[in-house]
Amino acid sequence: MPEHPAYPVGLRLAGRRVVVIGGGQVAQRRLPALIATGADILLVSPSATPSVEAMADTGELRWEQRPYAEGDLSDAWYVLIASSDTEANTRASAEAERNRTWCVRSDDADAATAWTPATGRSEGVTVAVLTGRDPRRSAGVRDAIVEGLRDGTLAAPRHRTRTPGVALVGGGPGDPELITVRGRRLLAEADVVIADRLGPRDLLDELPPHVEVIDAAKIPYGRYMAQEAINNALIEHAKAGKAVVRLKGGDPFVFGRGMEEAQALAEAGISCTVVPGISSSISVPGAAGIPVTHRGVAHEFTVVSGHVAPDDPRSLVDWPALARLRGTLVLLMAVDKIGAIARTLVDHGKSPATPVALIQEGTTATQRRVDATLETAAEAVREQDVRPPAVIVIGDVVAVGPGSPAAEAGRG
Ligand SMILES: C[S@@+](CC[C@H](N)C(=O)[O-])C[C@H]1O[C@@H](n2cnc3c(N)ncnc32)[C@H](O)[C@@H]1O
Repeated sequence: MPEHPAYPVGLRLAGRRVVVIGGGQVAQRRLPALIATGADILLVSPSATPSVEAMADTGELRWEQRPYAEGDLSDAWYVLIASSDTEANTRASAEAERNRTWCVRSDDADAATAWTPATGRSEGVTVAVLTGRDPRRSAGVRDAIVEGLRDGTLAAPRHRTRTPGVALVGGGPGDPELITVRGRRLLAEADVVIADRLGPRDLLDELPPHVEVIDAAKIPYGRYMAQEAINNALIEHAKAGKAVVRLKGGDPFVFGRGMEEAQALAEAGISCTVVPGISSSISVPGAAGIPVTHRGVAHEFTVVSGHVAPDDPRSLVDWPALARLRGTLVLLMAVDKIGAIARTLVDHGKSPATPVALIQEGTTATQRRVDATLETAAEAVREQDVRPPAVIVIGDVVAVGPGSPAAEAGRG
């Protein structure tokens, strides 16, 4: 018999009975996509993995905890056979054949009447790949297509016109691989990108030559005027029908002035999508081996801006209250003011020996970590020339990771 290719099709299973025989690893992998279709799923299996059991507990499927029995497939539109009981699998697939119900068999592709393609999704596109007998190749082709669609390297023009507007994209802390998939795709589709000094600057080099890149850090005027100029640039380009990305460091709403931009766009009647980003407040400590929480050490972490000194009338921070907290303090924009901040925390009761780590240019090739205590932090900044951008972590979590001075001393 010549090998005929399978006929690809998209099954619309919402509300239709799908029977799954076996609740092991294969079912665990396949069930989320079946659940997403809205199918009425019946699982027949004496046992199930904890994840599959959780799907039954939350009502995403109905689980009959017993072996397969003749007649289980009578109402099924589609059957997935994935149990370790070959004899039961064979009987179930014979029933499916008699009922003329399409049936996938994880243990015997030849005995199956349907094969599951390697699938992936990107922005409303479902990619399904079948290579017959080489599932790894199917997965490889699927990955290449989905990755290409996501990062824009695979040109797949849309036929509906793009809505002009602005995407406020959180670019993550700096490593170009730490932007979200959605942020990366919107960047690849942009006509104009207005970028901050912080964030994944390397990605800008990859943009095609027709994309206009505006360096927000170089927009003239003072600090507040600059924000107005950025808002105006966003509005102007969006009104000209361009797809605009406002690429920001970290997350747009963590000391990122993202909401000011979103409000200005709303006032100008321009649509705005917000794409969250990985904030430096968590990721930069993590990249330096510091967890912001740790069991038995810190049950809370507080992210604070240190851009104004504690005694500055503009400060909105309750430093005495922070000094009383037992958990981790994460300071952003605080390199210049660390002396005054450390003094205030100690004056209000924090131990001068509290560990402090300063992480400069986290997640980039030039990342460095300087360790100190509240008593020595200002001196460490001066002596070791710590410069912004840096995240400062204060608390016992600084000492728990393998890169901490305590761990290094123990090793020596
Ligand atoms: C204006 S705030 C923006 C924070 C950003 N929206 C976020 O969620 O990470 C800038 C401050 O973030 C911190 N920061 C951002 N990226 C950093 C990095 N890669 N390494 C160290 N600190 C960073 C520094 O404290 C810097 O002064």
